[in-house]
Amino acid sequence: MAVLVTGGAGFIGSHTVVELQNAGYEVVVVDNLCNSSSKSLERVQEITGKAVKFYEADILDAAALDKIFAENEIDSVIHFAGLKAVGESVQKPWEYYNNNITGSLVLFDVMRKHGVKNIIFSSSATVYGTPAQIPVTETCPKGEITNPYGQTKSMLEQMLMDIQKADPQWNVILLRYFNPIGAHKSGKIGENPNGIPNNLMPYVTQVAVGKLKCLGVFGDDYDTPDGTGVRDYIHVVDLALGHVKSIEKIKENPGLKIYNLGTGTGYSVLDIVKNFEAATGVKVPYEMKPRRAGDIATNYADASLAKEELGWVAERGIKEMCEDAWRWQSNNPNGFEG
Ligand code: NAD
Ligand code: UD1
Repeated sequence: MAVLVTGGAGFIGSHTVVELQNAGYEVVVVDNLCNSSSKSLERVQEITGKAVKFYEADILDAAALDKIFAENEIDSVIHFAGLKAVGESVQKPWEYYNNNITGSLVLFDVMRKHGVKNIIFSSSATVYGTPAQIPVTETCPKGEITNPYGQTKSMLEQMLMDIQKADPQWNVILLRYFNPIGAHKSGKIGENPNGIPNNLMPYVTQVAVGKLKCLGVFGDDYDTPDGTGVRDYIHVVDLALGHVKSIEKIKENPGLKIYNLGTGTGYSVLDIVKNFEAATGVKVPYEMKPRRAGDIATNYADASLAKEELGWVAERGIKEMCEDAWRWQSNNPNGFEG
């Protein structure tokens, strides 16, 4: 039996494929490479010593998905494939809704035709909007979402809940990620954003490697200890291991489950700069900028439910996250392009 990983050539997907293979699972990947390179999967093979069965296909293509399910004995799906840039989603709502929502509906339909009813879905802490309480528990209500990307996450959560309710044979695990950073220890795979990064850690590493001049810190007047935004940064390998635990859980027929995947600790933007400099010895020049629209002051997880029910905790600290992100960036200044 195999696990189908959609979007498996991407940042979180490639790290998850490594950990699934290390845990002995057979893995099949489907990815259209719209935001990734097949080289990531070659690197995965270098790390694990195991070949990755890869289909270059779009999840919007029902016939291609049908062939994948016909050719492989798939019993579970981990669904990462999607577009994820918040700002771009505001400019291109149709593309985001079509790719993320229609693509997922095509996938769910092909799954049901093949009797595969186990799915783990990549959701986001963004569904909480401005969280009702900190640390955020899974029982916090969903909040106001200000962009189409976040809407697709919230809508897909609801669709999967409704599908599971209508047919309780489905097992659905919704994983709400906090802020994944870091990279595999080998330095062979990591985050490879297109163009100028939107997220903090890739911006920091690109300043450190000399590709960008100076980090802009978006706001220093938040109600936080140093005035800059506080987030729950989680090592991508810990996040990947959360998916392995979820695959184990799904075999117990849990029905519907929702878990936060975070560390439970918040770091400010300036904490990240200081920790990065201390871990790597490389200076990161920065300057204060106005707040970024849509940002919140503080967000970190209560991840105790994942500990209780999945037996999962994030084990890698901020130093390791910074060291590993830097190893990847400095070994691969141009990502997978050499
Ligand atoms: P990523 O862009 O590196 O990976 C997504 C992968 O999906 C890419 O390889 C892309 O080529 C592929 N893809 C996109 N549309 C596709 C389609 N129609 N058909 C086939 N493949 C397609 O992003 P990531 O950071 O690895 O994120 C993975 C998932 O986790 C996404 O759903 C994202 O929204 C979600 N998520 C990410 C974060 C984060 O900070 N990285 C936070 C919360 C949730
Ligand atoms: C962003 C997305 C969120 C998504 C998450 C993970 C927005 C509004 N939210 O969240 O939907 O789920 O990424 O992909 O885009 N910062 C700077 N300078 C920078 C970049 C970021 O100061 O150049 C600050 C931000 O203001 C924030 C923190 O760093 O306080 C983290 O930012 P980022 O990495 O973009 O993540 P989120 O804002 O948490």
